[in-house]
Amino acid sequence: MDQTMKPLRFGHLVIWPPFVAAPVAGYTDAVYREILREFGCPYCYTEMISAKGLALGGKATLALLEHSEHDRPLAVQLFGADPDDMSKAVRVIHQTDMLFDAVDINMGCPAKKVTSQGAGGALLKDVSRAVEIVQAVKSATKLPVSVKIRIGWSSGDKAAEIASRLEAAGADMLAVHGRTVVQGYGGEADWDVISLVARSLNIPVVGNGDVASPGQGIRQLRESGCSGIMIGRGILGNPFLFRNLHEVLWGSEPELPGYSERFDLAIDHLNRAARRYGEHRAMLELKKHLAFYFKGMKGASKLRVAMNSARSWPELVDTVRRASGYFTDSACLKLPPLV
Ligand SMILES: Cc1cc2nc3c(=O)[nH]c(=O)nc-3n(C[C@H](O)[C@H](O)[C@H](O)COP(=O)(O)O)c2cc1C
Repeated sequence: MDQTMKPLRFGHLVIWPPFVAAPVAGYTDAVYREILREFGCPYCYTEMISAKGLALGGKATLALLEHSEHDRPLAVQLFGADPDDMSKAVRVIHQTDMLFDAVDINMGCPAKKVTSQGAGGALLKDVSRAVEIVQAVKSATKLPVSVKIRIGWSSGDKAAEIASRLEAAGADMLAVHGRTVVQGYGGEADWDVISLVARSLNIPVVGNGDVASPGQGIRQLRESGCSGIMIGRGILGNPFLFRNLHEVLWGSEPELPGYSERFDLAIDHLNRAARRYGEHRAMLELKKHLAFYFKGMKGASKLRVAMNSARSWPELVDTVRRASGYFTDSACLKLPPLV
């Protein structure tokens, strides 16, 4: 075991090992988070939730707060541009019977529909407003408040300065995605800037961007000065990465999933989603997840076409089940047409 690695601590939270599942809207819902937990993920966020939507009491927005008692510790992530909306949203959350362990503020989303309102990544262009938002959220809750930022709007030059203003405003932890907002998801995450931010603050910093394997994740954690690492796209269809991070941390060889494990989990995920959302919605939501479970496998594109043409949940399950019969643990036998 790596004796030098410490838990991620902020507020009352002690997160061990310091591995975090990134919020990924459309993917890290309550169903997938439950799976991530079973593979050893110690800390999750909800998908981003509109503060305005919560303040207005929208049913679909409130549904995003739901989670099981096993899905803890959990941060609720809010986005918004108005400090009043943000503090109102926090009060709405506290009036529900849903318990959270931290409130996180999204200051990194590059989507136009979010930045055009002045929310998400746009707050990195208006740091005074970002500071007001942190203060408003802090004043509305006793929970620790974290902020998820990128390294800047169009350059990372001011990353440490922005981060230290958020720290001074009361943020208890920062997660830093090493891209600018303008970069979207292109190029590479700049871990030098993440590291600079981590070393210049007194609060813990969680580094995020492009972690794709357990060895790489643990190396970034050790070398960057960060107190934790956060993984987004690397865990889509691959909750096994959390198991593998634990294995590498304990000094053993990571047990990579075979084809049959991937198929079994995909079918399990389909069933859990059907129980939560009903079969029709589960079919629509799961197609994108399934593509990730089978990514890189021989025959994956044939399978994807077949899954996408499924018109009902039983048809989708049947396609995945039939395909699974053509895979051994390590090889794909010749797949017949599945459509
Ligand atoms: C489809 C998609 C949805 C995302 N949704 C959110 C979100 O709701 N909140 C957030 O803070 N970041 C969101 N992100 C950004 C991720 O949390 C993460 O910062 C980013 O993907 C970089 O990490 P990675 O290289 O490990 O994927 C999203 C990213 C993707 C690709």
